[in-house]
Amino acid sequence: MIKVEGSLFTLSGDSYTYQMKVDDYKRLLHLYHGQTIEGDASTLLSLRDRGFSGSPYEAGTDRTYSYDYLPLELSVLGEGDFRTPSLVIEQEDGTISAAFRYIGYTLYKGSKKLENLPSVVIDDAECLEITLEEELSKAKLILTYIVKDSSLVRGLKLIASSKAITVTKALYSLDSLFGNLDVTYFEGRHCGERSRRRATINTGALTFTSRRGATSHQINNGFILSDSDATETSGNCFSLELLWSGSFTFFAQKDQYGGSRVALGAGSELFRYTLKDEELTLPELLITFSSNGFSELSVKNNRFIMNYIRRKNSSKLVNPVLLNNWEATYFNFTGEKLLAIAKEAKKLNCDLFVLDDGWFGKRNDDLSSLGDWFENKDKLKMDLSELSDKITKEDIAFGLWVEPEMVNEESLLYKKHPEWALKLLNKAPVRGRYQLVLDLSNNEVIEYIKAFLDDLITRGKLSYIKWDYNRFITDFYSSVTEVGKIEYKYMIGLYSIFEYLNVKYPDLIIEGCSGGGGRFDLGLIYYTPQSWLSDNTDAIERLDIEFGSSYLYPIATFGSHVSAVPNHQTHRTTPLYTRSSVAMLGSYGLELDPTKLSEDDKAEIKREISDYKKYASLIKDGDFYRLLDSNEASCCMVVSCDKSKALLIAVNRLSHGNPVDRYVKLNGLDETKSYKLNGKVYPGRLLINGGLLLPFTFQEDYEAVRLYIEEL
Ligand code: DGJ
Repeated sequence: MIKVEGSLFTLSGDSYTYQMKVDDYKRLLHLYHGQTIEGDASTLLSLRDRGFSGSPYEAGTDRTYSYDYLPLELSVLGEGDFRTPSLVIEQEDGTISAAFRYIGYTLYKGSKKLENLPSVVIDDAECLEITLEEELSKAKLILTYIVKDSSLVRGLKLIASSKAITVTKALYSLDSLFGNLDVTYFEGRHCGERSRRRATINTGALTFTSRRGATSHQINNGFILSDSDATETSGNCFSLELLWSGSFTFFAQKDQYGGSRVALGAGSELFRYTLKDEELTLPELLITFSSNGFSELSVKNNRFIMNYIRRKNSSKLVNPVLLNNWEATYFNFTGEKLLAIAKEAKKLNCDLFVLDDGWFGKRNDDLSSLGDWFENKDKLKMDLSELSDKITKEDIAFGLWVEPEMVNEESLLYKKHPEWALKLLNKAPVRGRYQLVLDLSNNEVIEYIKAFLDDLITRGKLSYIKWDYNRFITDFYSSVTEVGKIEYKYMIGLYSIFEYLNVKYPDLIIEGCSGGGGRFDLGLIYYTPQSWLSDNTDAIERLDIEFGSSYLYPIATFGSHVSAVPNHQTHRTTPLYTRSSVAMLGSYGLELDPTKLSEDDKAEIKREISDYKKYASLIKDGDFYRLLDSNEASCCMVVSCDKSKALLIAVNRLSHGNPVDRYVKLNGLDETKSYKLNGKVYPGRLLINGGLLLPFTFQEDYEAVRLYIEEL
């Protein structure tokens, strides 16, 4: 619900209130965000004559009024606020200052779709639009708010007048007047993405920036702001997630009077966007609230993402179980070998065969050919349409790996269009995996990418594309775009290609990928319903990546495969049942050569796939709960929304001579119901409040248990 009473704006979701007020000087204060309140939270504001804090000119002789300590919806330089600003604007004369005054608001139903940007579109959502005007440049700032369930979606648009402004920072901020707050963030590296870390907000700024042109393996663009004592099951917490896949900035800082400011938005220090008679729409920010800890936050947030953000394909191939040949063959294959793998995959009950890297140009290693998107007939001994026909004749769909945003210097494309790569003039480019990034801020490049994808999709009769991105942007120079605009315009170019494909091929599934999970974010999830979670397919390490990712993303979006042992990344050998159970926490697939499996393993994989298919809709639509996450064991469960069934998966790391038992308290079930599991009946209250003894045998390392729980 959105209520406007005079100058007070109260936005209420299922369990939260978000409140703003226009003050006497027409600045927009941020009064409150948190558990539901009634009334006007400006009673919390303390106005005192504070030394060395400046007051707005309009306040006259009132020295108690200062933007240095008031909570603000928008924090800028030049208004007396010495805290870190969220919006920085350079005026035409070079001065760095902005004064945004409130001029009006509109309320409407049904949020609007943004052009070439991921956006939350909900027909029955209540929406508020507040317009502010900047005093000197007359630029307008439009703030939008979409209220739905336990979430709030914020939007930001700048409209410049004929007086130019240069925007160097445009983040969303969230000011809190008091409280001990923590930030949970998800950091990592290639093969070790989204490790959860937690820090208390203090006076020094805690900052995270991706200046890689992508969200990155190193730091995700989703954060959780919580009470310092919040746990999985208690305390106030807010998730903040950008619908964006490019560079970004986050900071959190406590001020001199105990208030805090956190801010998150698109762009790094490289962002510098000059506007004149022109608009700039920034990516949206999703905020979800829970007063009952991280578990409930993840459930509410993930439901919102599944309902209103994740792309829904009209594909007949719903949740396809796929076999990808990357770890099976790497670059070393022929058409006949692929066909043999696809036939075996079909026998195992896979729905889709995916041909990974190495099928095009002269590519037999990663040194060449990106950009030359025509099949390597010498290697395949057939053309793409013939290969596709032979595979689909086996009653298994066909998908292809591509890396459209890249070019190798060793390619026909680069010889023809060296100016299409992002690289500085008169300086050798920085290489990453021997490749350069194409300039997606250039329309000619966009048209070339659309054209070759059209050709591949049509000739290959593709049901699926794995869209990879294996290096980050280092050389910010474009032949057509100002340097400071590249971070933004590159992403708009990328999103425009996804929009084009999604409209033209509504049944095509695109899986996002970036050397594993280097671009795992809501921007991509909006266009690609699943994304490869990590290049690390080891069951034990992957479990950690799945748990970290589950805080902010639905498991249905995790591309998740069973690979061979010893594992290619860690050289660890884990039981097949464990590998399969861990892969079930996502969109299931195989990443191995089935022609090399023993008959026993084939039979077991076939059983596992049919088990996964039984649970697939529960895994896709259910609520995910983390129950145990320690160095010794992990346990989680997926519960159907009506609480009638659940799947529990637990993994014990090492076996023990004299084991300490592992117990968990179940979550998400109905206390008043009874449930069947492992042939016994348990009252819901026993499982939820008393707990469950996990039936590990402790006879082997990396043992998994998988329990199906069903209402009596
Ligand atoms: C990185 C991906 O994450 C892998 O799965 C594989 O597709 C390789 N790229 C291919 O080069």
